[in-house]
Amino acid sequence: VKARCVAILVCPVCRQSLRAVGRALKCPQSHSFDVAREGYVNLLLSRGRRAVIPGDSVPMVRARRRFLDRGHTTRLSSALNERAHHHLRQLAQGHSPTVVADIGCGEGYYLGRLKQYLDPRLERHDVCYFGMDVSKEAARLGARRYRGICFFVASVRRGILLQNGAVQLMLNVFAPRNPAEFGRVMAPGGLLMVVIPAPGHLAELRGDLNLLGIEPNKREHVKALLESDFVLEGEREIAYQVALTGEEVVDLVTMTPSFWHLSDRAWREVRTTGPAQAGLRFVLLEFRRKTAV
Ligand SMILES: C[S@@+](CC[C@H](N)C(=O)[O-])C[C@H]1O[C@@H](n2cnc3c(N)ncnc32)[C@H](O)[C@@H]1O
Ligand SMILES: [Zn+2]
Repeated sequence: VKARCVAILVCPVCRQSLRAVGRALKCPQSHSFDVAREGYVNLLLSRGRRAVIPGDSVPMVRARRRFLDRGHTTRLSSALNERAHHHLRQLAQGHSPTVVADIGCGEGYYLGRLKQYLDPRLERHDVCYFGMDVSKEAARLGARRYRGICFFVASVRRGILLQNGAVQLMLNVFAPRNPAEFGRVMAPGGLLMVVIPAPGHLAELRGDLNLLGIEPNKREHVKALLESDFVLEGEREIAYQVALTGEEVVDLVTMTPSFWHLSDRAWREVRTTGPAQAGLRFVLLEFRRKTAV
């Protein structure tokens, strides 16, 4: 990862800028973080590593990768790519570097595809890509597949570990939010794209297999949380049916929070479901970072 991108990362201990020194990232106070063989960096402090919610487990992340690789969510990904391109190409090119961050990026599917889409289209921009997730396995798989993206392990609850006002474009897809941190790291006028499940997302499977429900009024809730630093600019639903194989059903359930809650009996039912139709229903919310007053 490029040195000028590394400098946008901040130290989780003292919040000063990091820089690459050999195979580690170091701050001016000499707090040091090893870059893993695969190329990601773990910026979670040891007390955070023992946190109650470690993010997605290894089997969850692997199920997510297998499922997303089947292409059922390509339509969502393409919608994000087009919106992102539309936003970024309007930015002054003097904006250097342009920073794109995916918070709760998982194994990197949406961010990886976004980079692939933007690379030939924003040739004259200098772009730094960051993928942040609290799951080490997610960062590991992301870094292994998507070169040129800086994947780091950190919890959005504790802080995003990027410089103030650095981010021109943020993705947050089915992942936790921290409104104060979103506001802090986003540049004035920057675009935040949040994807949440719409009511009815996976409804058929949810009913048949007793999966966890979607928080009622989630959309209104998210809007209210982001209201102080952001203006809602766009809102649309992306909904379509997909035909899943039995294995895809198992992977899909494995990558949801229901993974932690299903009984042995419920798992047996998931495994014996076989091919199924499912409705994918996403809400894409676009927020503009307010310009400081
Ligand atoms: C449902 S997955 C979505 C992943 C990815 N955005 C996607 O759509 O493929 C939620 C992700 O949020 C991550 N996550 C959970 N708690 C987190 C936290 N406190 N900070 C950062 N990431 C977190 C999980 O590890 C998981 O990868
Ligand atoms: Zn430090």
